[in-house]
Amino acid sequence: MQFIDLKAQQQERLPDGRSLREAVDARIAALLDHGQYILGPEVAELEQRLAVYVGVEHCIAVASGTDALLIALMALRVGAGDEVITTPFSFIATAETIALLGALPVYTDIDPRTYNLDPCKIEAAITPRTKAIIPVSLYGQPADFPAINAIAERHGLAVIEDGAQSFGAQQHGRRSCNLSTIGTTSFFPSKPLGGYGDGGACFTNDAELAGLMRRISRHGQSRRYFHTEVGVNGRIDTLQAAILLAKLELFDGEVASRQQIGERYSQCFQAAGVATTPYLAPGNTSVYAQYTIEVESRAAVQEDLKASGIPTAVHYPTLLCQQPALHACGSRCSGACAIPFAQRASERVMSLPMHPYLSPQDQDQVVAAVTAALC
Ligand SMILES: Cc1ncc(COP(=O)(O)O)c(C=O)c1O
Repeated sequence: MQFIDLKAQQQERLPDGRSLREAVDARIAALLDHGQYILGPEVAELEQRLAVYVGVEHCIAVASGTDALLIALMALRVGAGDEVITTPFSFIATAETIALLGALPVYTDIDPRTYNLDPCKIEAAITPRTKAIIPVSLYGQPADFPAINAIAERHGLAVIEDGAQSFGAQQHGRRSCNLSTIGTTSFFPSKPLGGYGDGGACFTNDAELAGLMRRISRHGQSRRYFHTEVGVNGRIDTLQAAILLAKLELFDGEVASRQQIGERYSQCFQAAGVATTPYLAPGNTSVYAQYTIEVESRAAVQEDLKASGIPTAVHYPTLLCQQPALHACGSRCSGACAIPFAQRASERVMSLPMHPYLSPQDQDQVVAAVTAALC
């Protein structure tokens, strides 16, 4: 069994009857014919389609989810001496981009049920240097944006949703990446909308920020060889844009399938009475980028599953505040390192095989193996 089966998708049929593989081949052939490998027409087409999908005015397609965060922070003028409040329980990119700009990541604790930033902990961490908040919509479920946006508004702060894992999820009927000042996502192959390489995007309804992010992602160039910003080479490849356009045709069906598989996992575990299953906050949907449970003695359970041929993963075993690279740049945990829920989660969470084409038989095998390991 595979943790994520990226190949199964290639045989899926698009609404026009072609397989995804045929649609991707046709897109790549068209690109080879027109030859605009950098900022070809597929990039603008993808940006337009993604903006409509998310429900925002502006989408800037970029080279990765990491670049999307970096470019968003640069557009907000985050730099040396600034502080950015974020979660300690995420992938390195969330805090790495803050540190790269010379700013200080300030970590506040998570809600132990959703694993997302707990809004109640944020206000105490705000100082005159705070510039922005980066909530991560972890495992596919949006963070509590109504509460976080209200705090940000009271203190004049920007909010960047790190939606790398939540593209396609909704909160009170609004899509992830349209829930705050800027939303960012990743098209890393294993993400809910994954390409066949690196990619990402920034989303906003603010025209000025959109213009800035677009320029920053293109070396700060405002006309040919004339640069008004210090920027980066952060454009998405036309090739990835072309592939994502084909994959977008399957995306609604894949989101529905992810939700159905996630709910079925939870029903099975609840019926078996084992493990802590994902909690969905009211008003939220999840795209289950990961299906993550909590168990005691995780290492032993992982070993048992491995012996049955079932791969697992831990997202994430080391908190960002404990990462040596980030330590070296400095950081602060609000309330004298008071992040007990993040610490506890990092010791207990375990992700199971999850992708839109996971069969009920494979799911039943996973549930039976976890149940046997825990009983
Ligand atoms: C929460 C989170 N943020 C940011 C990223 C970075 O995305 P990318 O790998 O596309 O740079 C990831 C990717 O794993 C992620 O999970």
